[in-house]
Amino acid sequence: MNQRETLCVKDDHLVIGGCDAVSLAAEFGTPLYVMDEAFIRGMCRIYRESLAEYGPYRVLYASKAFCCKGIYRIVEEEGLGADVVSGGELYTALSAGMPADSIYFHGNNKTVEELEMAVENGVHAVVLDCLDEIGLLDHVADSLDKEVGVLVRVNPGVEAHTHHYIQTAKPDSKFGFNLAAGLAEEAVGAVLKTQHLRLLGLHAHIGSQIFDKKPFVLALHKLTDFMKEIREKFGVDCEELNLGGGFGIWYSEEDRKIPASGYAEYTRALAEALDEDVREKKLKRPVLVIEPGRSIVGEAGVTLYTVGAVKEIPGIRKYVSVDGGMFDNPRFALYQAKYSAALANRMNDKAEETVTIAGKCCESGDMLAVDVRLPKAERGDTLAVFSTGAYNYSMASNYNRNAVPPVVLVCDGRADLLVKPQSYEDLVRNDVIPARLQKVKR
Ligand code: LLP
Repeated sequence: MNQRETLCVKDDHLVIGGCDAVSLAAEFGTPLYVMDEAFIRGMCRIYRESLAEYGPYRVLYASKAFCCKGIYRIVEEEGLGADVVSGGELYTALSAGMPADSIYFHGNNKTVEELEMAVENGVHAVVLDCLDEIGLLDHVADSLDKEVGVLVRVNPGVEAHTHHYIQTAKPDSKFGFNLAAGLAEEAVGAVLKTQHLRLLGLHAHIGSQIFDKKPFVLALHKLTDFMKEIREKFGVDCEELNLGGGFGIWYSEEDRKIPASGYAEYTRALAEALDEDVREKKLKRPVLVIEPGRSIVGEAGVTLYTVGAVKEIPGIRKYVSVDGGMFDNPRFALYQAKYSAALANRMNDKAEETVTIAGKCCESGDMLAVDVRLPKAERGDTLAVFSTGAYNYSMASNYNRNAVPPVVLVCDGRADLLVKPQSYEDLVRNDVIPARLQKVKR
């Protein structure tokens, strides 16, 4: 594990945010998502404080990493805005009291209803992702008699080293306007011809779980070149430059362990490169916007499970099965993601076995971690999987009609529910038996 003040071992037990993990499992049941509030707040502060050393900036929390009402309260208190990618995320943010003018609406295929909802509520910006969306949004704005701020999402064609499903800026991508092919310029031209859209600036997001700073800086250079072209061709300055998220986090021994303060290196690299480009290319300094998700909430999360069946196939593999699986964390099944784990009730025992942690779904690929070192696990042990705060709860499903686990927020020894557990009744709540299928009482 990546130890820190709020994730440590005390009396042989794992302790998160001052709460004993074994007691949390007993109180709330397992599987259980646990989120460390101090970690989340600390990350928000690192991003804000490091960018504040340079020019104007804005930090947005990428909602898709972990979306529920409570998280918006935390990020708003820390001075962040939010990016949303669906009507559902926008609804959640607004219902948590997030000010609309701190929200950016993304998506490669927003529906007309979503565009209307965004405009009606007055989001700060809609991030445009395809040509006909420009006319569509202008029409929506016209019918609601509003002006809408927009960013043009550019695909700068920068390759970053990460899983290809979470790499978004390679030339062949469903996201954004390809810069090299001239599509981004066409989009800017089209926006400037509309009645109701106001070009605020540009956006790019090159991918996720990236450790190297270079591809971020390379994307920034390409965007400032483009800002210069826009200035020369259309006589317009971009007020905002949004470089997306994507900073990598620690999941397993294969990843770098970056202390929270280390993330300032990314923001400083970007802010310094921007200031240099602005000087060299004689541009108006735009507001530098970033929208990290994973790095804010990822390492804040630990999922607790109870060990059940333990099965050894001699000479092949030992499976330790837990009461969760791909329904609470589909990332191994989707991306072969690596995780590390520990027995939260016996933290001082020596890890003496290499085992595979299997989920309880009826699917062979339902694993949580493959070939991890653990002490000899037994039925009833509490197993902790680390770095599950991002893209776990938000990608959970009811596969096999398993309930999505509850989420608790821990801080200074307190534990409060952020998301209540689902009951069996919740699972059938929206099911309908058509009249002709009803059981006839005889
Ligand atoms: N901005 C945009 C436009 C994005 O598409 C994303 C993530 C972010 C910001 C936040 O990136 P982050 O800082 O979290 O890396 N489900 C995948 C990750 C998909 C990321 C999609 N976009 C996973 O579980 O790894």
